[in-house]
Amino acid sequence: MNNKMKHQRSLLLIFIMFFGFTAPELKCAPFYEEIESLSSPEPVNEVLFLLQDGVPYYSVINQGREIIKPSKLGFSFMGQEPFDHGFKIISTTYDTVDYKWTQPWGEVKEIRDYHHSMNILLGDDSDRYMRIIFRAYDDGIAFRYVIPEQNDLEAFEMMDELTEFNFTSNHSAWWIPAYFWNRYESLYRNTPLNEVDTVHTPVTLETSDGLFLSIHEAALTDYSSMTLARARDNSLKCDLVPWSDAVKVRGELPLKTPWRTIQIAESAGDLITSYLVLNCNEPPKIDDVSWIKPGKYVGIWWGMHLGTSTWSSGDKHGATTGNTMKYIDFAARHGFEGVLVEGWNLGWDGDWIANSEKFDFLTPYPDYDLHGVCKYAADRGVKIIAHNETSTGILNYERQLEEAFKLYHELGINTIKSGYVGHRQEIKRRNPVTGAVLGQEWHHGQFMVNHYREVVETAAKNEIMLDVHEPIKDTGIRRTWPNMMTREGARGQEFNAWGQGGGNPPEHTTILPFTRLLGGPFDFTPGIFDLLFEQANRPDNRVNTTLVKQLALYVVIYSPLHMAADLPENYEGHPAFKFIEDVPTDWEDTIVLNGKIGDYITIVRKDRNSDDWYLGSITDENARSFDLPLSFLDAGRTYIAEIYADGKGADWEDNPLTYEISKIKVTSELILNVQIAPGGGQAVRFTPAER
Ligand code: NOJ
Repeated sequence: MNNKMKHQRSLLLIFIMFFGFTAPELKCAPFYEEIESLSSPEPVNEVLFLLQDGVPYYSVINQGREIIKPSKLGFSFMGQEPFDHGFKIISTTYDTVDYKWTQPWGEVKEIRDYHHSMNILLGDDSDRYMRIIFRAYDDGIAFRYVIPEQNDLEAFEMMDELTEFNFTSNHSAWWIPAYFWNRYESLYRNTPLNEVDTVHTPVTLETSDGLFLSIHEAALTDYSSMTLARARDNSLKCDLVPWSDAVKVRGELPLKTPWRTIQIAESAGDLITSYLVLNCNEPPKIDDVSWIKPGKYVGIWWGMHLGTSTWSSGDKHGATTGNTMKYIDFAARHGFEGVLVEGWNLGWDGDWIANSEKFDFLTPYPDYDLHGVCKYAADRGVKIIAHNETSTGILNYERQLEEAFKLYHELGINTIKSGYVGHRQEIKRRNPVTGAVLGQEWHHGQFMVNHYREVVETAAKNEIMLDVHEPIKDTGIRRTWPNMMTREGARGQEFNAWGQGGGNPPEHTTILPFTRLLGGPFDFTPGIFDLLFEQANRPDNRVNTTLVKQLALYVVIYSPLHMAADLPENYEGHPAFKFIEDVPTDWEDTIVLNGKIGDYITIVRKDRNSDDWYLGSITDENARSFDLPLSFLDAGRTYIAEIYADGKGADWEDNPLTYEISKIKVTSELILNVQIAPGGGQAVRFTPAER
């Protein structure tokens, strides 16, 4: 601890001992027997560990402002005294960590992990021990519990994690409900904190003095997901997703929990460029990452969502050999790395959601020549992305996993898009011999956390990248398993094809970067040009954006694998398709130029493989005009800006298809005026005039 930190700590001690914090259960002027504190390097943030009557608490302070009031820590276990009282501090050690690491792919190339840490060992009179490890970063605080091996507690059944987040006031919150029939495919709600339901993380909060907080978790491994339940006004409590028998987590000691993360930012955009969650994950477990490649794909997909073709066999079967070859030709002509094929394997006929056991991940439909198609793709430098819909038949999938992934690898299939659609929110776990239902496990419970990890590890062994739909939420494990490329995990484009209420409203994509995307990449599948579904009979649905907003989403929504989601015939010959062809999916740098949650956002990103920059700016249902300094460009260099703008009179509702493409010369000194139509966007490629 340096002098500045010590000074701060003593001021805080005086403050706490004389005035106390005001956690409701502590009444006034509590006396803390023991206090340990840790400041972040600058020091912007500080975390305090407090013991009152042997009960552990933590609190968080940002630049002298209390952010989290004393909040309880601990656990309860089946057949044990709760691990939440009677503790004394046995030892406290401090450390400083400062190093840079390179992402094999990502939204930025280099990330600095610079934090101070405090490792507190607690013990009680019955020789029970628990460690709490805190990290203080300049962009937030993280902590995790470690319970070492000890007497009488080898195999454990955890009934609750008692972690609380006691906020200082009734902040504005953006959230989606947990335990919902549709997992997490809900529209985000913005309410005062005292109106939130039990919610998924990340949950985003704005304080009345203009700070932004994101509460999430990092490195979710062999544990249940943390949802947050409203405990009292201004207070959320960890609510671990239970097993079907109500146990929250089962295992054997030692136990290491995921990190509980609290990102703290001066602006909403700074939450997006905070890499705290990734920093709390373990370094890569894959030595050779040369086979892991970001890129773009097209595929046999949107037609099924529009109802013009089918996953199942028959006249309208989408995944035929001939159709797939057409997509491969299209991909090769336009420089796409992959072709997604959905509906290629047996199992889709009849009620595929109810009959998950029928999915066969090795056997194609007779009109799909699996080997022939893979060879055709390889000859043209294109990779097939095979689809594995499990419809939550987990044991059926796990039984076939090794053999299927081995076959895919032999065939040159380097990416799997998996899916976990289910009628209910549960996962059906059946006895493989009798078929009896063993349990109805939640998507986000420990059973499924472990399942998703097994798939990632099996894929890595077979050099396969993953794009998971209906996934477990992202907690940054892509750092450890860089083949875990992207995932859905929110309402994507598909809701526009068939969603009740007409799909995603214009503001949806202006909320996602500040909420869902704080967890990690999102396979949103942008790029629909036929916004009004002229070829499909969907009178109640359409895409609620302008055409240019679809382009801007490639920059705004980060994903290392991005789809050009529309049917090839809607792209052929379309001048705006050039932007989708050009835009990369792997970045050297990311800067958020402006943003207001639910209103608008502008992001610029630098291509990792050239000197080009790309800009994406989107708005909700309101028109915007921004003056954007181009100071991110290299000083003294001239760039050609290729601008894709909403056309005159464009409006997502009445006139969504009009656009203008222009080219101008710009330098880093210029201020670019960007006009965006209601529900619209702007996309720009900046290329150095002389390379
Ligand atoms: C839902 C997924 O999000 C979508 O992409 C896929 O086409 C369907 N399930 C069928 O698996």
